[in-house]
Amino acid sequence: MGSTSVRTVKGTRDLLPPETAVWKAVEATVERVFSAYGFAEIRTPLIEETELFVRTVGESTDIVGKEMYTFADKKGRQLCLRPETTASVARAFVQHGLKERPRPLRLYYIGPQFRYERPQKGRYRQFYQIGAEVIGDPGPLSDAELILMLVRFLGELEFSGLTVLLNTLGDAASRSAYRAALTSYFEPHRAALGTDSRRRLDTNPLRILDTKVPAERELVAAAPRLADSLSDDSRRHFAAVEAQLDRFGVDYRVEPSLVRGLDYYTSTVFEIVASGLGAQSSIVGGGRYDRLIAELGGGDVPAIGFAIGLDRLVDVLPESFRNRHLRRPAVMVVPADDTGRSSALETAEMLRDAGLEVVLEVSGRSVRAALKLAHRSAARFVVLLGEQEVESGRPTLRDMRRGEQSSLSYEELVARLRAAPGEEK
Ligand code: HAM
Repeated sequence: MGSTSVRTVKGTRDLLPPETAVWKAVEATVERVFSAYGFAEIRTPLIEETELFVRTVGESTDIVGKEMYTFADKKGRQLCLRPETTASVARAFVQHGLKERPRPLRLYYIGPQFRYERPQKGRYRQFYQIGAEVIGDPGPLSDAELILMLVRFLGELEFSGLTVLLNTLGDAASRSAYRAALTSYFEPHRAALGTDSRRRLDTNPLRILDTKVPAERELVAAAPRLADSLSDDSRRHFAAVEAQLDRFGVDYRVEPSLVRGLDYYTSTVFEIVASGLGAQSSIVGGGRYDRLIAELGGGDVPAIGFAIGLDRLVDVLPESFRNRHLRRPAVMVVPADDTGRSSALETAEMLRDAGLEVVLEVSGRSVRAALKLAHRSAARFVVLLGEQEVESGRPTLRDMRRGEQSSLSYEELVARLRAAPGEEK
């Protein structure tokens, strides 16, 4: 095929073994930890009506304004590949009348998201998120419990030294006061703003605080602080979240410039950044979205959630966790000659019946070459079968780590392999 060969679409990638085993181990940890907090899985479609994200994430955001994969289907419906899943979960909540279920509803998801961004390290056009949403409770205890779950999850992945960045965007009253303060601050500087920020000044001045334009960063640094526009309710809510996090010794820092890049946020917002990822350092983003479900016609249902960028998380995963979960064949069955070959499959099946993971050497390699392969793939044991082993009914077990060989009955073989330490898997 040469230079015309078909490759992955820009910004997407294949995940190959053994890397996929690491992803699965992270996903298994999600299931275990999130279940312990009462979360159940939700799966929503990868395609949605474009309008869903326009109405929730917001037209003035980069995600909706620049990064969505939108298309018209054969009937002219305006659809898109989901750029995030919170809006989809909220849509499902409204669509299926989940309001009637006991509150709060705790849902999680794991799946691909699509954003047409410039690909770079840690930034893909198809990327994966682990998300959790608590729907139907307005109180600070939900905020604190959700963050505790996140911290526990990251702890189980053996992360250390991660800090939660925390802020509050206040309630509707706080935000409209703040919006007014920002508008009157930026208006006299309109000419100094770029086109994006000028547009945002009219649509959502809060977005200007997100700017990456160096000249605008200076203006932003001197802009009024949201903290000064907070209502008493908002202040109390935030203080209660902080008090709980203090109580559990969560490593967090209040970051007044944290505003998040989606319009639906209200009240508590948070992010976790990791070093070693360069510019794309945010591995978790989340917050309250108390008005989102009302926006979709679902009534007054406050909610909070987060999404973890799985690609980035795996990129910075501690080596200890990664090494423990890189899958290695536990046992390799190697025929030494034709007699061995004739009974090798039977032996492999028998060991699998006993619950062991077995790789059969099928390609007729010499024993020497097979042992080399076993060594390279870090197999812990090799079961050698030749004429002598078959006739005596005693296969040879080679412990690859210790370099020892022993001749065992089938019963002894199963017992030995089962007793082998599990961490070598
Ligand atoms: P977000 O901040 O847009 O929030 O995305 C959450 C995380 O997804 C980011 O912190 C990052 O780790 C990862 N991420 C985003 N874009 C990319 C990309 N192009 N490549 C790789 N990773 C990426 C949300 O999506 C909200 N729905 C989170 C949420 C849930 N808020 C409340 N509930």
